[in-house]
Amino acid sequence: MITNLTSQEAMALEDKYGAHNYHPIPVVIAKGKGAKVWDIEGKEYFDFLSAYSAVNQGHCHPKIIQALTDQAQRVTLTSRAFYNSELGAYEKFITSYFGYDKVLPMNTGVEGGETAVKLARRWGYKVKGIADNQAKIVFVDGNFWGRTLAAISTSNDPSSYAGFGPYVEGFLRIPYNDLTALEQCLSSDPNIAGFMFEPIQGEAGVVVPDEGYLEGVRALCSQYNVLMIADEVQTGLARTGKLLACDHENVKPDLLILGKALSGGVLPVSAVLGNDEVMLTIKPGEHGSTYGGNPLACAVATAALEVLRDEKMAEHAAELGVFFRSEMERVQERYPLITKVRGRGLLNAVVIDNTEESEQAWNICVDLAQNGLLAKPTHGNIIRFAPPLCITREEMEQCVSIIESVISTHSK
Ligand SMILES: Cc1ncc(COP(=O)(O)O)c(C=O)c1O
Repeated sequence: MITNLTSQEAMALEDKYGAHNYHPIPVVIAKGKGAKVWDIEGKEYFDFLSAYSAVNQGHCHPKIIQALTDQAQRVTLTSRAFYNSELGAYEKFITSYFGYDKVLPMNTGVEGGETAVKLARRWGYKVKGIADNQAKIVFVDGNFWGRTLAAISTSNDPSSYAGFGPYVEGFLRIPYNDLTALEQCLSSDPNIAGFMFEPIQGEAGVVVPDEGYLEGVRALCSQYNVLMIADEVQTGLARTGKLLACDHENVKPDLLILGKALSGGVLPVSAVLGNDEVMLTIKPGEHGSTYGGNPLACAVATAALEVLRDEKMAEHAAELGVFFRSEMERVQERYPLITKVRGRGLLNAVVIDNTEESEQAWNICVDLAQNGLLAKPTHGNIIRFAPPLCITREEMEQCVSIIESVISTHSK
C-alpha cells in the first residue's frame, strides 16, 4: 500500500484510529536513505534518532535490502517446527562473530530480555542449585528494557509501571554505577542468579558509568557465581564506537542481549548469546517464538552484521563521536542553556537547563525538525543525538550548525 496523503492527513488518521501510546514529533516520514529521511511533502531531514539506534547501518542499506528481497522470494517463515535452510548458517555466523557457543533467536528487544531472565532463572535452578521459585535477578535504577510485564516490574519509572500492576516477582533493584551496592547485594543473597544491566543506559538519557564499572561488574559476578547479563539492545552493534559497549573495558558478559540494529532497522530481530552451560538448560518445547529464527530474519541479520564489519562502522562512530561531543561542548560554552554533554561514539545526549516537566527540550526538538534535524527528548530535558553510523563528517558539520542555531534561538 502506498498512500497518497498529506502529512496533516496522515497525522490525523494516526490520532483518530491509533491508540494514544506515543506522542510523536509532528513529522511524517515517507522515505529514508543513509542518514537522511524525507517527509511526505519531500522535505529533507537528518535522522538523529535512528529509530532508537536500530538504523545504525543507515536507512534502507542496499546490501541489507538485497538480502531481504532475495530471501523474501524464496521462503520467509517456517516456524521452528521444522529446520530451515538459513538458520544454522546464521547461528554459526553470529556465534563466531561474538564468540559464544550458542544463540537463541527472538524478535523484539524485550523478548531478548525476557529470554535472558528465563535462562538465568533456569541456570540458577539447574546449575547453581537455587531452590525452586526462589531465584532472583538484580536490576538497576533507571533501567529500560521494554514494555512487557516483567520489564516494567523492574522499573523505577512510574510512566513505565504505574497503573499496570500486579507485578512480576523475583526482581531486586540497586543504584546504577555503584559497585559497592552490587557487592552488598550479591554477597547478601545466595539466591541471586543474574545481574542484568545496560553498559550505557540509553533511555535513562545516555548515562555513561564510571570507568572500571564494567570490569567491576564482571569481577563481582564471577566472584559470587551470578550471571552477568548485558542488555546491549541499544548500545550494541557499533553505536558507542566499539562493536559492543562492553568492549570498552574488554569484558565478556555471560549472556549478551542484542536487538534493534541486528537487522539494520529492517525487521524485528533479537538474540541472546551465551555458552552451553547456560544455553542448554532450556530444553525443546520450553521457550520459543513463532517468528524467532525465521529465514528472512536470518538473511537480514547476517547482512546487517556484515555491513557493520565491512564498513568499519564502529571505528567511524568512535571518530565522529569525539568530533560531535567537542562541538557540543563548544556550543555549551557559548550557550549555558546546555548544562551537560555526554555519550560515547555516536550515542550522545545534551541536557537542557530546566526541569523534566519543562517543555523546552520538546520545543527545541520541534524547532530542530523545522530546521531539518530529527531528535526526540527523553525524560523531559535530555535530548539524545544518535544519527545512523554512515553519516559523513561533512553531514555532521551541517548538523552541528543546525543544532547550534536552534540552541542560540532558545537561549534568547
Ligand atoms: C536497552 C534496551 N533494551 C531493550 C529494549 C526493548 O526493545 P524493543 O522495543 O525492541 O522491545 C530497548 C528499547 O528501547 C532498549 O533500549
